[in-house]
Amino acid sequence: MILSRLTRNRCCRLTALCIAALCVSFAAFANPGAAILPPGEGQALATRICGQCHSVELLMRHRLTRRQWMAQIDTMISKGAKVDDDDFDVLADYLTRALAPESRSE
Ligand code: HEC
Repeated sequence: MILSRLTRNRCCRLTALCIAALCVSFAAFANPGAAILPPGEGQALATRICGQCHSVELLMRHRLTRRQWMAQIDTMISKGAKVDDDDFDVLADYLTRALAPESRSE
């Protein structure tokens, strides 16, 4: 009796753990801020600023030159992104390094 209850409890705990793990992975999948930008100087800034309105995953689908990234950041500013001059340079540098067209990533 006791043994069977113990086993059942452990089974329940395991099920609960599995459900919890599923929830966490689903949350990570569904949470817009969950995508992780490539590491590098400016990563934290880009994650903070560029993840406010949409997932940074949206950025990772793009491979742009510096000029194109600068235009993209300008477009985001016109949509309401708060980017001061210093941040603009850091973001442009970071995005150009982290998400450059393959052929141009010197
Ligand atoms: C004030 C809100 C806001 C912020 C902050 C913001 N964006 Fe956006 N972004 C938008 C909106 C709105 C769209 C268009 C709708 C969508 O696709 O979600 C968009 C779309 C994009 C796209 C897709 C454009 C396309 O043509 O496919 C890229 C790339 C992008 N943003 C990059 C950035 C970068 C880089 C930053 C950080 C500098 C940033 N965003 C910060 C609002 C924002």
